[in-house]
Amino acid sequence: MINRLGFNSEGHARVLERLKRRKRKGVIGVNIGANKNSADMPADYVAGLEVFSAVADYFTVNISSPNTPGLRDLQAPKQLDALLARLMAKRDALVRAGSPERPIAVKLSPDIAGDDIAAICDRLMAHGVDGVIISNTTLDRTAVAAHEHGRQTGGLSGAPLYERSTGLLARVYVQTKGQIPLIGVGGIDSGSAALGKIEAGASLIQLYTGLVYSGPGLIAEIKKTLIEAIERAGVDSIAGLTGTRAQNWIAKTRTESNVT
Ligand SMILES: Cc1cc2nc3c(=O)[nH]c(=O)nc-3n(C[C@H](O)[C@H](O)[C@H](O)COP(=O)(O)O)c2cc1C
Repeated sequence: MINRLGFNSEGHARVLERLKRRKRKGVIGVNIGANKNSADMPADYVAGLEVFSAVADYFTVNISSPNTPGLRDLQAPKQLDALLARLMAKRDALVRAGSPERPIAVKLSPDIAGDDIAAICDRLMAHGVDGVIISNTTLDRTAVAAHEHGRQTGGLSGAPLYERSTGLLARVYVQTKGQIPLIGVGGIDSGSAALGKIEAGASLIQLYTGLVYSGPGLIAEIKKTLIEAIERAGVDSIAGLTGTRAQNWIAKTRTESNVT
């Protein structure tokens, strides 16, 4: 799937109002970003953290959408450092003022240069982020080059993103030595694809495009496959499988641009 939505929500105030009114109580992750015409993008993230701290169970800091110009520049180690410093300072202030401490996960692009991975991971660990979500959609079209719509503008998700996002997941797992929980996302469309993310280094998984094509029954299939894998390996939980094939994934997805 290729999407070029940009951040088309109605904005903080309207979303907050809807979240407060909601009847079903599940885990709420609020995905924060910046306006495309913002003069100070980090300030937009800080505002998002402040506004939604009362209702969000966790935050995703989205610095990886390809549909907002300039957003992905925040992944550059220096800019990432500045953004995380401001976000963590705001969270500390909110906690001091009595707000619960909300976990902060940073969501990365599968298109970051292999040379930047070490420095990015270093910044993520230095600021003590609670999780890293890998990955957002890709601008790369290699996997769909032959498709009639392959050149459409936007971010590509689903099966053609699977290898690329899982390769980055494995690299971040090794680089962070398994010390930060990683959330694997990108192209999960079956139980075995979900298991692949865990083996590459994920503690948790997310999926979007797979649900469009397979519907909610996919969740039951994934759970069944994961339970079978846990039993086969003789481990207590999914944690026993996390990262067990990270090196295989790194070898399998090695290209000229991501040699580490
Ligand atoms: C229609 C659409 C809208 C999306 N909007 C966002 C967004 O607002 N923020 C974000 O971090 N990721 C967004 N994504 C990316 C997904 O969360 C996910 O990272 C990506 O699609 C890869 O997972 P998948 O292959 O399971 O879809 C969007 C994806 C799609 C298809």
